[in-house]
Amino acid sequence: MLRVYYLEGKRYKSCEPNIKNMTDFKGMDILNTKPLSKSEIERIMEVADGVLAVARKEEESDLLKGKILASLFYEPSTRTRLSFETAMHRLGGDVITVVGTESSSLAKGETLSDTAKVVEKFADAIVVRHGKPGAVDEMARAADVPVINAGDGDHEHPTQALLDLFTMIKERGIVDGLKIGVVGDLKYGRTVHSLVQLLAHYDVELILVSPDQLKMPGEVVSELSEKGVKYTETEDLEDAVKVADVVYMTRIQQERFNDQNEFEKFKNVYVLTREMIEKHNAKMTIMHPLPRVGEISLNVDELEGAAYFRQVENGVAVRMAILALLLGKV
Ligand code: NCD
Repeated sequence: MLRVYYLEGKRYKSCEPNIKNMTDFKGMDILNTKPLSKSEIERIMEVADGVLAVARKEEESDLLKGKILASLFYEPSTRTRLSFETAMHRLGGDVITVVGTESSSLAKGETLSDTAKVVEKFADAIVVRHGKPGAVDEMARAADVPVINAGDGDHEHPTQALLDLFTMIKERGIVDGLKIGVVGDLKYGRTVHSLVQLLAHYDVELILVSPDQLKMPGEVVSELSEKGVKYTETEDLEDAVKVADVVYMTRIQQERFNDQNEFEKFKNVYVLTREMIEKHNAKMTIMHPLPRVGEISLNVDELEGAAYFRQVENGVAVRMAILALLLGKV
């Protein structure tokens, strides 16, 4: 049986699964983070904590035996696809995969909703990455099985944000009270759009660091204001490094620029160096959804606060939790 943990103060306590409260997620889609309530978010966190030992290869599980996940990745991915597939395999489930549009019926002109209606006949859940914002919603409307957004263009990447939040809990013990620097391409970066919506449920202070042209979209910022989240916007990375408990670096999203000369202007705009960290804030936690393309110097990796590879492992646990919840298995 799956062990479930809940957060009491700063400590996780183990308990028997409470079946009554556990079916709420069954059949749900995860398309963006805004609709998730704080209790739903915390439920995902506690189930992820319960399966962390399986993600870390310390325990085995066949919780999802007999279930099939269809993984449809129409845009490049290494981590997210392998993370979902690993999560499914380690819980005893199976995976069917399409990578790239060339090998799929989309290349023949099939609509997204027809693809969804076909794939639901094969699989119990579908995870999709697509270059067009809203494409995954379109598939979710057509499919009767749970659909998970693994990144839709520059829009959202909810499971990355959930694993980022889980990592903050693991690294810092508690989210309330944290000062969090969110750095890089806040305009096109989908992970940050999803992440700040989750953080808005907590008493955090955000330092949004980006070039003026790559600021967090107005509607996301207004949302933060409406929810009373404390935030500042700056172009200077050191403003965040000086005060933040956590700095979340992101890459400039080259593939979203129509004009590659524009991209060239920004590509090396922020580099978090070991010197900068040691000078200002040696204890801070450093995160990145990866891939990094120069935003964090390689010698930062040896610092205790460098959490980006632990983030990857946490991601498997969070995706296990999401799959188990949506398939009604916890
Ligand atoms: C992110 C993505 O795809 O949005 N990568 C990931 O899923 N870990 C971040 C990025 O590509 O910059």
